[in-house]
Amino acid sequence: MSKLNKIKVLTIFGTRPEAIKMAPLVNKLNQEDCIEAYVCVTAQHREMLDQVLELFNIIPDFDLNIMKKNQTLTQITSKVLEGLEDVIKKVQPQIILVHGDTTTTFAGALAAFYHQVKVGHVEAGLRTHNKYSPFPEEMNRTLTGHMADFHFTPTLRNKENLINEGIHKDRIFLTGNTVIDALIETSKKEYDFRDSSLKEIDFEKHRIITVTCHRRENLGEYMHNIFYALKDIVEMFSDIEIVFPVHLNPKVRSVAAEVLGDIERIHLIEPLEYQPFVKLMAQSYLIITDSGGLQEEAPALGKPVLVVRKETERPEAIEAGTVKLVGVERKDIAKMAGELLNDSSAYKAMAQAVNPYGDGTASDRIVRIIKEQFDIS
Ligand code: UD1
Ligand code: UDP
Repeated sequence: MSKLNKIKVLTIFGTRPEAIKMAPLVNKLNQEDCIEAYVCVTAQHREMLDQVLELFNIIPDFDLNIMKKNQTLTQITSKVLEGLEDVIKKVQPQIILVHGDTTTTFAGALAAFYHQVKVGHVEAGLRTHNKYSPFPEEMNRTLTGHMADFHFTPTLRNKENLINEGIHKDRIFLTGNTVIDALIETSKKEYDFRDSSLKEIDFEKHRIITVTCHRRENLGEYMHNIFYALKDIVEMFSDIEIVFPVHLNPKVRSVAAEVLGDIERIHLIEPLEYQPFVKLMAQSYLIITDSGGLQEEAPALGKPVLVVRKETERPEAIEAGTVKLVGVERKDIAKMAGELLNDSSAYKAMAQAVNPYGDGTASDRIVRIIKEQFDIS
C-alpha cells in the first residue's frame, strides 16, 4: 500500500456524555493538516447534545437526527445503522472513532465493521463483567471492543481488562480519559451563573448536594428508593439544598416529579449546559449520582461522590477514596450521606482531589497515536 499524506477521520457520537468527551478530540483533529476530520452526530439525544455542540463550537458534517421520545434500543440501533450507511459511503474514512458505551457507540462500530473501516474506540476497556449492569452499556462497550482496531483506554485497569479478553496489547493505548481534557478546558473559563434556577440557591449559607440520576437499570423501584433517600436527607439536615438537573428522559422526569416535586430545598431544574454544571459541581459539598461522567469529574474537583448503583466500572476513584458505592436502597443512601454530612473528618478524608482518569492531555495522545498508526505527519 502506498503511503498516505492525509487520512479521513470520521467521528461519530450521539448523546451528551459522548459529545462532552469527544469535543476536545474533535477540536484537536481539526487542527491537523494531515487529517481531514468529519463529524457525524446520530442525535440519539437532541437538546442535551446540542447544548454541548454549541459550547465547543462543533458544527457536525452529518446529523442523523434520530431522536424520538421514548424510543427503544432496537429503534436506536437500526436507525443509526441505516443512517450511517450513506455517511460512510460518502466520506470513505480510513478510521471511524466512537466513544464509550452508548447504543450509538455500538451501532457506529458495527456500521464501520460492515464497511470494513478501522475503528478507534475512545474510553475503551471499562467493565463490570455483569452483562445486565449497566444495561445496555456493558454489552455495548464489550461488543464495540471486539470490533475495534485501536483501543484508547483511560486507565491501566481498563487496559488489563482488554488483555484478559484476548485483545492484543499492541492495539491498546493508555491515554487517560478525554473527559478530564473537557473538564480542565471548561473550568479555566470564567463563568457566572446566568440560569435563574441557580440564582435562587443559597450557596453561601447552605451546603449543596448536586444530584443526577438516569440509568436504565435504576428506572422503577431503585429510582424511587434513591429519590426517597434524597427526601430523607433534606428532612434530616436543615442546611442542605439539593440541586437536581433532571435528565430529559420522560421516565426519569415522571418519577422525579412524583417523589420530589414541590419539596422545600430540593430544586428540580432543567439539564444544565456543561459550563454551569461544572461550576455547580465545583460549588457543591457532595455529589450523589449514577452517572459515569460524574464519577470521573467530581474526584478531579475534590468533591466526594456517592454512587447510587449496585456496581461500577470505575473502581479507580473508589480505591483513591473520593467515591463510595452506596447501592440503591433508601436507608443505605440516607445513612451514608448522613455520616458524611455529620462527620467533618470522614468528609475531609473523601474530599481530596485525585485524578485517576487522566491529566488533561488524552486528546493529544490519541491524535498522535492515530498519526503514528497511519504513518502520516
Ligand atoms: C443514553 C445512553 C446511556 C448514557 C445516557 C447519557 C443508551 C442506550 N443509553 O441513555 O448510556 O449514559 O444516554 O445521558 O445508549 N431525551 C430528550 N432529549 C434529549 C435526550 C433525551 O427528550 O436531549 C429523552 C427522549 O425521550 C429519549 C429518552 O430521553 O427517548 C431516552 O434517551 P436514550 O438516549 O434512549 O437513553 P438515555 O437514558 O438518555
Ligand atoms: N452534565 C451536564 N449538565 C447536566 C448534567 C450533567 O453538562 O445537567 C454533564 C456532566 O458533567 C458529565 C455528563 O454530562 O460530563 C454526564 O452525562 P450523563 O449523566 O447524561 O451520562 P453518563 O455520564 O451517565 O453516561
